[in-house]
Amino acid sequence: MTFEELKPKVTDILTNTDTLRDEKLKQVCHLLKDNIDYYDWVGFYFKNGDKEELILGPFAGEPTDHTVIPFGKGICGQVAVSNKNFVVPDVATQDNYISCNINVKSEIVVPLFVDGENVGQIDIDSNIKDAFSDLDEHFLEFVNTEVAKLF
Ligand code: SME
Repeated sequence: MTFEELKPKVTDILTNTDTLRDEKLKQVCHLLKDNIDYYDWVGFYFKNGDKEELILGPFAGEPTDHTVIPFGKGICGQVAVSNKNFVVPDVATQDNYISCNINVKSEIVVPLFVDGENVGQIDIDSNIKDAFSDLDEHFLEFVNTEVAKLF
């Protein structure tokens, strides 16, 4: 499915008044993982209150041991500090990387802003090298803008 086809489906899930927020986010993770062939793990991490750490939220894909990530650690922890998208074409080239699964070759993390504050992120792993382009960045920015409306 194309990003343009997925966008209204994302909005439908997030505006469904019958589901709670975490269920909506989980459905979005599954929608993306199931319909974009190079999205092998899709999840949200959120800032843990006032602590400088991220907590794993809803996700689709293999369970990960990395349910808590300190700010600054790994790709996710770096995005918590930088407030910028982070696209990693080849995770093997990254010193500050947390491996969740040996099959993962590339990763993209896009921060989630609510009222201008970085409250979390969407994280996608791919088992294909160099999987992500600026089209993924723009699509995931759209997803996060829609998700931010729930906060
Ligand atoms: N690879 C991430 C950790 C999260 S897993 O991909 C689910 C990182 O380096 O922060």
